[in-house]
Amino acid sequence: MKQLIIAIDGPAGAGKSTVAKLTAQKLNYNYIDTGAMYRAVAWRALDEKAELSDQAIAALARDLDLQLDYINGTTKVTVAGQDITEAIRTPEVSRLVPKVAQVGEIRKIMLELQRNMAKSGGVVMDGRDIGTHVLPDADIKIFLTASIAERAKRRWLELTEKGYTINLAELETEIAARDKEDSERELAPLIAAPDAVNIDTTQLSIDEAVTKILALARRD
Ligand code: CDP
Repeated sequence: MKQLIIAIDGPAGAGKSTVAKLTAQKLNYNYIDTGAMYRAVAWRALDEKAELSDQAIAALARDLDLQLDYINGTTKVTVAGQDITEAIRTPEVSRLVPKVAQVGEIRKIMLELQRNMAKSGGVVMDGRDIGTHVLPDADIKIFLTASIAERAKRRWLELTEKGYTINLAELETEIAARDKEDSERELAPLIAAPDAVNIDTTQLSIDEAVTKILALARRD
């Protein structure tokens, strides 16, 4: 069977990574979490207490010895051999990452790495600009959404389970601000590709969303 390229884009909390990972598992494909790559740059900047100018962060991105390993349904993220899988999910990193993601040079570096990772097919890649910029020729493009209230609730549960004390209303405001930054930026904004299939997960279970994508994959 043909090794497809599946692009999944959408805002925070729409279920992209869970849906993408399960889809990859069912098809025995690789999964690439491009958000983790931008998060790794933001983490590095915070960890090094670097100056937060575009040039300084771009310099960090250029020298980042980044590795993503998708094994047994989870992505291990390492920078220079250090496991930062958990460290890139903190609220501090989430706040900084849209700024990092607006820097043209950083996007260029990531785009090249991402295209390289997808070149042999058999891949599910998720992010904000995969169907529009990174893999415009992807076989299947999905735009995954959900209401802001539902997305905030999901992220709140995720963070609470990890031990963070977070106010749901504040989290909703923060996610809305990140959506706005991601959607209104000049470079590769968060937008559905014209040929993407929209899936709204507000009332949909993870399995139902995955089933829809698998049906598209089997038709291809
Ligand atoms: O997991 P969550 O949906 O919160 O975010 P993520 O996928 O980890 O992405 C974090 C941030 O990285 C996004 O808010 C974007 O600012 C940026 N990003 C991007 O610009 N382009 C991508 N392809 C992926 C992420």
